[in-house]
Amino acid sequence: MSSVDTQNTATPIGKEDVKPVLEVKNLKMYFPITKGLLRRRVGEVKAVDDVSFNVYEGEVFGVVGESGCGKTTTGRCITRVLKPTAGEIIYHDKRGDRVNLSDLSRSELRPYRREIRMIFQDPFSSLNPRLPVVDLIGEVLKVNRIATDAEIKERVKKLLRQVGLRPEYLERYPHAFSGGERQRIGVARALASEPRLVVADEAVSALDVSIQAQTINLLQDLQEEFNLTYIFVAHDLSVVEHICDRIGVMYVGKMVETGTKEEVFERPKHPYTEALMAAVPKPDPRLRSRGQRVRLPGEVADPSNPPSGCYFHPRCRYAQEICRTKAPSLQEHEVTPGHYSACHFAEELELKGVRPGEASASA
Ligand SMILES: Nc1ncnc2c1ncn2[C@@H]1O[C@H](COP(=O)(O)OP(=O)(O)OP(=O)(O)O)[C@@H](O)[C@H]1O
Ligand code: SF4
Ligand SMILES: [Mg+2]
Repeated sequence: MSSVDTQNTATPIGKEDVKPVLEVKNLKMYFPITKGLLRRRVGEVKAVDDVSFNVYEGEVFGVVGESGCGKTTTGRCITRVLKPTAGEIIYHDKRGDRVNLSDLSRSELRPYRREIRMIFQDPFSSLNPRLPVVDLIGEVLKVNRIATDAEIKERVKKLLRQVGLRPEYLERYPHAFSGGERQRIGVARALASEPRLVVADEAVSALDVSIQAQTINLLQDLQEEFNLTYIFVAHDLSVVEHICDRIGVMYVGKMVETGTKEEVFERPKHPYTEALMAAVPKPDPRLRSRGQRVRLPGEVADPSNPPSGCYFHPRCRYAQEICRTKAPSLQEHEVTPGHYSACHFAEELELKGVRPGEASASA
């Protein structure tokens, strides 16, 4: 293992010429826990706790981990819906300038909101039910001054075609669409501002399996057409395996492993990753269509009161004394540059991965 590279900045293997779009450095998002009428601060939820990773131009970076591990909070910090407690979110803009989004004010953020967009899990709740499609998508064009009033209709029609919807749907309201179609409207809204980076948070999780596949194909086609970069948050490991180039595994606010999809799935270097994949049940279409999640033995630690040392130690079958006292840092593996994990025994353990196509359930 290389000694102190905790920034997790190596380029993906075989892609040394690719530039980062985003560098997340030591990101922290702590939510205060308050008590009583005076809202006295009695603690904090460390939803994201010192997370570092890079996202490279044109790639799909997947983020996985059990519920409550901080995936959405990380996405909301990157899109600056939340102002992080600490850390840097360095975005490389269209001109190649580096800008730290975590420090910017509302008005300073405006130009970047256009370039970094989010797609949500529930297409229905993220669309205003009282607005027809032309306004739902048109408002993004207006706010970002992409089209004049006279141009809006034509631009919306074009966007509808691009996401595989009929341009005649212009005047329809969200309730008139199926779940899959509504997600396409959500995608069209995200695309309307001509983004470079899209954070898709469980964007296909609420959809039926066949519609999921269509939506993933759409996202892949759009990626190619518009040279998009995705951060793809998902609990379904088979979806992640299908669409992602690199993967980050989160546990209780920490990034515990990152690397190429092949490295992380086939040769995991963190016991949590191994446990996630071992818990994948045999493919069962009935379970998957209901979005059933993998359940690991033991409880996920509480981010407002995490265990000492390595947060995974109470559930880890390989835990030793040092794991209870010393927190491991994210380290790069010498034999597989670009593959990082945070485990004291990452080099010694022979962990079991999954072969391509085996990760067919949810985490
Ligand atoms: N606004 C908030 N105020 C207080 N705590 C919060 C807030 N948002 C998230 N949390 C807490 O932060 C932790 C991480 O939540 P987050 O939603 O980021 O997890 P997640 O990995 O996206 O989970 P899921 O897979 O269920 O979507 C959880 O303990 C959650 O309860
Ligand atoms: S540091 Fe110890 S407890 Fe943590 S994952 Fe590694 S072996 Fe398990
Ligand atoms: Mg979430």
